[in-house]
Amino acid sequence: MKVRKAVIPAAGLGTRFLPATKAIPKELMTLVDRPLISEVVTEAVKSGISDIIFVTARGKAAIEDYFDIDAALESHLEGKGSEGVLREIRHISRMVQVSSVRQKEPRGLGHAVLCAMNAVGAEPFAVILPDDLVDSPIPCLAQLAEVFGNTGKSVVALQEVPPEETHRYGIIEGVQTGPNTFRISRFVEKPPPGTAPSNLAVIGRYVLVPEIFPVLAGLEPGSGGEIQLTDALDRLAARDEVHGLVFDGIRHDAGDKLGFLKATVHYALKDESLGPPFMRYLLDTLAVRGGR
Ligand code: UTP
Repeated sequence: MKVRKAVIPAAGLGTRFLPATKAIPKELMTLVDRPLISEVVTEAVKSGISDIIFVTARGKAAIEDYFDIDAALESHLEGKGSEGVLREIRHISRMVQVSSVRQKEPRGLGHAVLCAMNAVGAEPFAVILPDDLVDSPIPCLAQLAEVFGNTGKSVVALQEVPPEETHRYGIIEGVQTGPNTFRISRFVEKPPPGTAPSNLAVIGRYVLVPEIFPVLAGLEPGSGGEIQLTDALDRLAARDEVHGLVFDGIRHDAGDKLGFLKATVHYALKDESLGPPFMRYLLDTLAVRGGR
């Protein structure tokens, strides 16, 4: 069965980026000239998604505005003859069907996904976290969708992380079933240092079966007092196949300040016109610092 819908949770408080996130949704922070959420919506569209469901909250209306048609801006750009930027502005607002649901309180990622239950209905769906960016020739979500196409079962994106960082992630236990695939038997959210069952971390891309919803609805708050998607996956794995794919691509955690800076440098260097002068600037700066 084809995965048509993607849920993008965007209702979190973004406390690691305060004070900026007091007024700007973290999901709209920009990499060069594009908000984080735009990158993941583009990835979803390239992966065959036709319907995006944002989970939003108070203060996040600008996310919906970003994907809306702005007739006044379009006619202004038309009048100025700004063809290139006009084409892009039009594309953003027309590339995919978007809708949103509210999470009234930030009760955790699992709860945010549960808020999209009615909008998703009884079909498999994707979840994409807008602060996890993956740069890859084949979009990360498309890689997961292929595994889902072969198995018909839930599949999550996995990345190897250094053992000293496992306590920051949801970590899996499982058996390898192919060069990059695992059948997962257990998920642990943020295991205390030294207790992780592996160094394979779940990152922000999932294809889930709708049976996850009743599991989410029955969960008590877990790590950090939040309803954790990892806990629901752990319960699901006890009764159904759940697969993991070590995806091919470069991932940045843009939800963290250092990760966001690294992502900014990565995407700026990839930019056709900005990349070469930015590289020169970086090299000059490093040479000056190194010379001190
Ligand atoms: P994070 O935990 O990275 O985001 O959630 P956060 O809570 O907003 O940020 P910090 O930790 O306080 O800095 C990953 C994604 O899940 C969404 C966030 O908006 C982000 O896109 N999320 C998180 C929700 O939609 N609801 C929640 O209750 C929690």
